[in-house]
Amino acid sequence: MPARLTLGFVGTGQMATALARGFLQARLLRPSQILGSDPSAEARKRFSQATGARVVGRNRELPQAAQVLVIATKPDQVGPVLQELREGVTPRHLVISIAAGVPTARLEAALPPQSRVIRVMPNTPALVGASATAFCAGRHATRADEALVERLFAAVGLVLRVKESLMDAVTGLSGSGPAYVCQFVEALTDGGVACGLPRETARRLAVQTLLGTARMLVETGMHPTTLKEMVTSPGGTTIEGLQALAQGGFHGTVMNAVRVAAEKAHRLGQTASTN
Ligand SMILES: NC(=O)c1ccc[n+]([C@@H]2O[C@H](COP(=O)([O-])OP(=O)(O)OC[C@H]3O[C@@H](n4cnc5c(N)ncnc54)[C@H](OP(=O)(O)O)[C@@H]3O)[C@@H](O)[C@H]2O)c1
Repeated sequence: MPARLTLGFVGTGQMATALARGFLQARLLRPSQILGSDPSAEARKRFSQATGARVVGRNRELPQAAQVLVIATKPDQVGPVLQELREGVTPRHLVISIAAGVPTARLEAALPPQSRVIRVMPNTPALVGASATAFCAGRHATRADEALVERLFAAVGLVLRVKESLMDAVTGLSGSGPAYVCQFVEALTDGGVACGLPRETARRLAVQTLLGTARMLVETGMHPTTLKEMVTSPGGTTIEGLQALAQGGFHGTVMNAVRVAAEKAHRLGQTASTN
């Protein structure tokens, strides 16, 4: 990463903090190469304590100091943010937006002509170097811009390029996915407790089961169906559990969760004013 590159986070909330910490832990950037702006003094304080980076209260200050601007506010704040940044954004800037649902065309329309824009959807495991990220480039982003985004987000996990029309689906799956997975861990834990396990024992077993299964899938490249069948002996315990999941509509419920979250992301992008 170029030593003079500075990344400016507009909005220093949870995702900005997770990403900044991830980039620092991966030694891709030093704290002096990160800057954050946020109207909330509390959010600025938390961000600077978590990252050691400099923070400012006014978004307008960022384009002077940072060549890469990361818009990390809620989608409904993207419009006012772009208005503030507009004057300072030049062809030397790359604007990365992680706001759910907001299309590159709307970002480009609110910025000066020819602005270089990339839309990215990461997730919170960036904090531990295990994010799942997808991105798509705007009309004027260069190959070098895409390479920079790939390098940044590869340092905090998996990064895939997708068509922009699929970005809301990514939001519904991996953007929101950590919450679904935590819900599953809670359910596994409660099931263990219902069967008599102490809660802490049940929680640790549940989390490790998730981690171990995910690692097996990643490290062996095994298909989930193959792994499922490996642990499902005829007439055994697991098939009983799987039957209960099927009867409870588990598969369809998770599919629906992804779909409704993707639809919500789409609606957020439509209603987020960028003018
Ligand atoms: N959290 C996730 O798992 C996740 C995953 C992928 C993508 N995202 C996307 O990341 C974005 C941020 O999400 P988040 O969870 O990090 O939200 P968050 O924790 O609420 O962070 C947003 C921050 O932006 C601040 N802000 C509000 N208006 C601003 C303005 N005009 N200029 C600068 N900063 C402003 C907020 O301050 P106030 O609190 O005072 O309003 C808050 O500190 C969203 O668009 C979301 O779609 C989130």
